[in-house]
Amino acid sequence: MVSVILPAAGRGKRMQAGVNKVFLRLMGKPILFHTLRAFAAVPEVQEIIVVTGAEEVEPLRRALQGPGLFREAAKSVKVVAGGSERQYSVWNGLKASSEASDVILVHDAARPLVSRATIEAVIEAARENGAAIAAVPEKNTVKVVEDGVVTATPDRSTLWAVQTPQGFSRSLLMAANEKAESDGFLGTDDASLVERYGARVHVVMDSYQNIKVTTPEDLVVAEAFLRQSGS
Ligand code: CTP
Ligand code: MG
Repeated sequence: MVSVILPAAGRGKRMQAGVNKVFLRLMGKPILFHTLRAFAAVPEVQEIIVVTGAEEVEPLRRALQGPGLFREAAKSVKVVAGGSERQYSVWNGLKASSEASDVILVHDAARPLVSRATIEAVIEAARENGAAIAAVPEKNTVKVVEDGVVTATPDRSTLWAVQTPQGFSRSLLMAANEKAESDGFLGTDDASLVERYGARVHVVMDSYQNIKVTTPEDLVVAEAFLRQSGS
């Protein structure tokens, strides 16, 4: 069984919309709806845990009740409160996940364009290897800059831009989060905790379409992709 954690408890500061960006609309529907729909379509996914701001938990629970996407797909949907950092939000979601799940996927709620092919590929690779992440080869030359001055130019051919979903065996992700918590380590993605724990993380080639809606221009791009796919 596969559980999916959707961290959606951010404040969307870089979007500058004054609201949690996952509730902004694309093609007339909230970003979170598009993301939920992508996971609801995958038969192996049995449980979806949405992690939102504390004040958003009850309204979202009510909105997800009744007939709809999940009742039809026979999936369990939970809504829990997040924390001040994405890592803490994921940890709250993980603690609420069913012990019957062998694989946990973590996926940014702000990535509504994730494809079924990517979700299924990450599930398969996580089940086989314990840890797998969706990523794309970096298109830009990336430089290390300190105090406005370039200090290094890493070889682009070794660089991958990391996306989500990231998939893990449930016990590995629990252990990696427990270690990060006790060490006071804060990572920028889930895999960094697992890498630090000492496990090998495999990479699954994703699509460049699976963008994270982060700044205002991303809304235009994401809507264009959704329109193209008939969503
Ligand atoms: N997230 C979360 N809990 C947090 C911070 C972020 O669940 N404390 C979620 C966001 O809702 C988003 C995902 O993690 O779906 C990726 O984070 P990001 O793109 O940084 O979203 P925000 O933190 O909302 O945006 P910003 O950093 O611009 O404020
Ligand atoms: Mg953030």
